[in-house]
Amino acid sequence: MRSSREFETGPSLDEKMAVAAEEAGRGLSRRAFIASGVAVGVGAGLGPFGGAVSALADKPASSKLSKGDAAILRFLAAAEILETDFWQQYNELGGIVDSEVPGGSGSPMYIKALEVLDEDMPQYIHDNTEDEFTHFTFLNAYLESRGREAVDLKQFAELPSSKATGAQQIGRLTNLMELTVDTSWWTRYRSHTKNPDLGDSFAQAVPGLAKGEHPAIPRTDADLKPEAHLQAIANTAGFHFATIEQGGTSLYPALAQRTRDAEALRVVLSIGPTEAMHFQTWQDKAGNAPAITDPQTGLEFPNLKESTDEELKANLIMPEPAPFLRKSLPIVSIVRPTETTGIAMGVVEFLTAMGLFKGQSKGFFEALKQLASEADAARPRG
Ligand SMILES: [Fe+2]
Ligand SMILES: [Fe+2]
Repeated sequence: MRSSREFETGPSLDEKMAVAAEEAGRGLSRRAFIASGVAVGVGAGLGPFGGAVSALADKPASSKLSKGDAAILRFLAAAEILETDFWQQYNELGGIVDSEVPGGSGSPMYIKALEVLDEDMPQYIHDNTEDEFTHFTFLNAYLESRGREAVDLKQFAELPSSKATGAQQIGRLTNLMELTVDTSWWTRYRSHTKNPDLGDSFAQAVPGLAKGEHPAIPRTDADLKPEAHLQAIANTAGFHFATIEQGGTSLYPALAQRTRDAEALRVVLSIGPTEAMHFQTWQDKAGNAPAITDPQTGLEFPNLKESTDEELKANLIMPEPAPFLRKSLPIVSIVRPTETTGIAMGVVEFLTAMGLFKGQSKGFFEALKQLASEADAARPRG
C-alpha cells in the first residue's frame, strides 16, 4: 500500500516513469530508440492533426528554466500535490481502490450515495485521482529535468484522516470534513452578460454550501445514517469536485500567460485542459444531485434539474458565451476567469476560504504563500 506521504517521494515516481517509458518504447527505451537511427524512418509519423512528427522532437530540453518559469511550475506542482492529497481521500472511501490508485478499502454506503449522481462515480473519482497524481509527478520530474528543484510538502501531512471504515489512517495535507463550497461557477458559466474578470459577481447554485462547514466524506461510521444525511455528504462531494476542477481550469491559462520558455508553456497548456475535462464531467454529475435537506444540519440542495431559471438549469452545462477582455467585443465561449495578475495567491485564498486547509500549521501556510508569491512575481509576456 502506498501512503500519501510516499506520493511525494522518488521511488514511486521513478517506477511510474519507467513503466511509461517502457510502454512508450514498446520494450525499447526511448533513448536507445533514437540513438539506433531507426528513429528517422520509424519514429517519424503523422500526429493527431495529420502533421509530420519527428522523433527528434522528443529530445529533452537541457537548459535550465528561468526563475519565473520554475516558480510557475513549482506553484502548479504544489497545487497538484494538494489536489492529489484530497482526491486520494475521496478515492479511499468513494472510488475504486486498485494498483493504479491504492490505499483504503471503500465505504459501500458512501459509494451507493455517490452513485445516485451517476453509476460511474467511483470510476471517475479513481481516474481523476490518478490524473492528479500524474500531474504533480510529471511537473516535479520536469522541473528537475530543467535544473530546478521539485516541490515536496510531505512534512506538512499531519491532518487527521476520516475515522470512517475504509479510510487509511495516515497524515493528510487537506481536510475534507469542514468544507465551505463556493458553487458560483454554476451561474458564472451560464451567464452570457457577465465575466468575473470584468468585475462581475455570481449567485450560488447551492447557497447552503457557501456557508457553514460541511463534510464531503463520512467523518466516522456515524455519518453513514440516516440516508438523507449521507446523501447530503455525497452531494457536497459532487459539487466540491466541480468547484475544485473549475479552479484548475482557470489557473492553468492564467499562469500560462507568464511563461517564457516554449516547452514550459507547452507543459502548462497540455495539463490545463484536462482540468477542464474533469470540470465538465463533474458539472454534469453535480446536476444529478437529488434535491434533499440534511436532517442533521439543515443543508438544503435545490432541485436544479427542474429549475426554469436559465442560470440554474442543470442540463445547461456547455459554457455560455460571455463578454471577454472588453465589453465592446462580441461575446465568446471561454474559460473564465483567466486574469493573470495575482492568480496564484488568489488560488491559495480560494482554497483556504473553502476550509480545505483547516487545522494546517503556520509553516504550511507560509510555504504555500511563498510558492504563490514567487509564481505571481513572474513577469507577464507582452
Ligand atoms: Fe491537476
Ligand atoms: Fe484537478
